[in-house]
Amino acid sequence: MSIFLKDFPIRRGRRLRQNQVIRSLVKENNLNCNDLIAPIFIREGTEIIEAIPSLPGVNRYSLDRLLEYIELLLKFDIRTIALFPYTPIGKKSSSCEEAWNPDNLVNKATRLIKSSYPELVIMLDVALDPYNSDGHDGLLVENKILNDETLIALEKQALIQAESGADILGPSDMMDGRVAVIRKSLEKNGFKDVLIMSYAAKFASSYYGPFREAVGAKGLLNGDKKTYQIDSSNLEEAIREVREDISEGADMVMVKPGMPYLDVISEVKKRLQFPTFAYQVSGEYAMIKGAIDNGWLDRDKTILETLLCFKRAGCDGILTYFALEAGKLIKKDNTH
Ligand code: PBG
Repeated sequence: MSIFLKDFPIRRGRRLRQNQVIRSLVKENNLNCNDLIAPIFIREGTEIIEAIPSLPGVNRYSLDRLLEYIELLLKFDIRTIALFPYTPIGKKSSSCEEAWNPDNLVNKATRLIKSSYPELVIMLDVALDPYNSDGHDGLLVENKILNDETLIALEKQALIQAESGADILGPSDMMDGRVAVIRKSLEKNGFKDVLIMSYAAKFASSYYGPFREAVGAKGLLNGDKKTYQIDSSNLEEAIREVREDISEGADMVMVKPGMPYLDVISEVKKRLQFPTFAYQVSGEYAMIKGAIDNGWLDRDKTILETLLCFKRAGCDGILTYFALEAGKLIKKDNTH
């Protein structure tokens, strides 16, 4: 008999899998509604719920239709949202000043939501790309992304967002030193409790395509983002980036994309032991949703499995376009 079977029948792995009750007794990880952050795309105008072709099932909402969607999320115990603006071309420029306009769409939306749902946690992206006519997260001058000049812009953007009532700021630009600049500025200006969830390990990925369409940046991007986002092959560099963001004052860190980078999530959690989040990005959603809509994957099981895997990898929470669907499935599951 093979040495691998020397404990058989003393040890039978299948004893632990024999029925649902036993299986749930030894379950190592659970997915809960309070693990989920729902990204929401917003746009100008009234009475608009607009489909995004490359993200079937995800919409852009005008502000007057936003609260009804939020009510739905709350019904399924999803209490943290991340807002992303679709910015019409006329409001984009190479200096990106719409980013720190107190009346820009995300700031208006934040004030509106907070007036009805003060307890809802709102996260806003700190990055210039929705407002940049070049499509980049930083200021582009003579074909170079300028790091330190971008920091000045990001600081202005972050402060205005905090003033509007954002609870969590998510620097997603990958400029060096951004977390330190934002943290110092928040402290100096009386926003001591505003959280920073930095997009700490953000890879230069092809999975962001549908998002760029959703925020109106598709086709604008001049070149690529490889001079600031991390090369997909690099794990140690990702760990260094996360470590730096923590030392600069981030409260939570994020790895992005999610599923293709579960190894990075796992290492970040194990080595740095810090609140760790994943962004299951637009391309991941589109891929799974495409297969579901074609009948190639089982909808409910696949959604729950992909999200649970993030918990197993070490995530405390997940940003996902499946948030509402997953919330419904989790609630249904719990009532059985
Ligand atoms: C931009 C930003 C991106 C995403 C979130 N913030 C895109 C990018 O870096 O090009 C991607 C999210 C997604 O694909 O769902 N700062």
